[in-house]
Amino acid sequence: MKIISSIEDMKNEMREFRCQNKTKGFVPTMGYLHEGHLSLVRECVKKSDYSVVSIFVNPAQFGPGEDFEDYPRDFQRDSEILRNEGVDCLFYPSNEEMYPQGYKTYVQVYDLKNKLCGRSRPHHFTGVCTVVLKLFHIVNPHQAFFGQKDFQQAVILKRMIRDLNLDVNLRVLPIVREEGGLAVSSRNTYLTPEQRKAALRLYQSLQEAQRMVDQGERKSQNIIQIMKKNIESEPEAQIDYIKIVDTENLDPLSELNQDALVALAVFIGKVRLIDNTIIKPEG
Ligand code: PAF
Repeated sequence: MKIISSIEDMKNEMREFRCQNKTKGFVPTMGYLHEGHLSLVRECVKKSDYSVVSIFVNPAQFGPGEDFEDYPRDFQRDSEILRNEGVDCLFYPSNEEMYPQGYKTYVQVYDLKNKLCGRSRPHHFTGVCTVVLKLFHIVNPHQAFFGQKDFQQAVILKRMIRDLNLDVNLRVLPIVREEGGLAVSSRNTYLTPEQRKAALRLYQSLQEAQRMVDQGERKSQNIIQIMKKNIESEPEAQIDYIKIVDTENLDPLSELNQDALVALAVFIGKVRLIDNTIIKPEG
């Protein structure tokens, strides 16, 4: 596995593949790899002639007071894991390489960036779109792999790809869960054992939503109310939002008569966790 830190070297390395009849797959990450990342990496390696993974903790997507400094990092471990998974190239740029002095350009997908997580993290998706567009230009992949846990991120990036006529196919893979249902996340490492137990409420409440819909409930308000009650009975939990929305424009749905995204963000202590499920009502 090649490890490259300079953008210029990376672009030189990547250029030739686009002309050959070979598929290049890409998994952008912020490192501290877990099973969620590995499901993306494995699919990328399997479905591409040449696989690229990036590790970059992107300062532009963290707001003031968020966990940029504390975000877990372990490059040695990550690079060993990726080598064992058969990845061809690892891109590992520095902050100065990605955002040199005088950097001024940011990408915004209006409207979508302000919904769901965007309400409490107003700069987050601008940072995500900016770094992902830069990475797409540097790596120039045919296909890129993202996880459903960050569903809003995937919706926004798909819109960016469409609006800016980018030549990359974005693939979204299912959420990977720990035993008990907690969605795998780098931020789970911040949880104490008690908080980890409390965090199971997130998945349980999503399952409850599915159960209610299976039993014929269609009113979003009623489903959200039960989910809220379930989560709020856990003293460590503080709800940021619970929403039932359209899977493409992320607008709230008052009735579940079509495929819907049930999404939530909940603080367990100081740790903000997100999770979601797609509900397909029958009949
Ligand atoms: O999902 C993530 O880990 C990040 O938002 C991404 C896509 C790597 C951009 O920094």
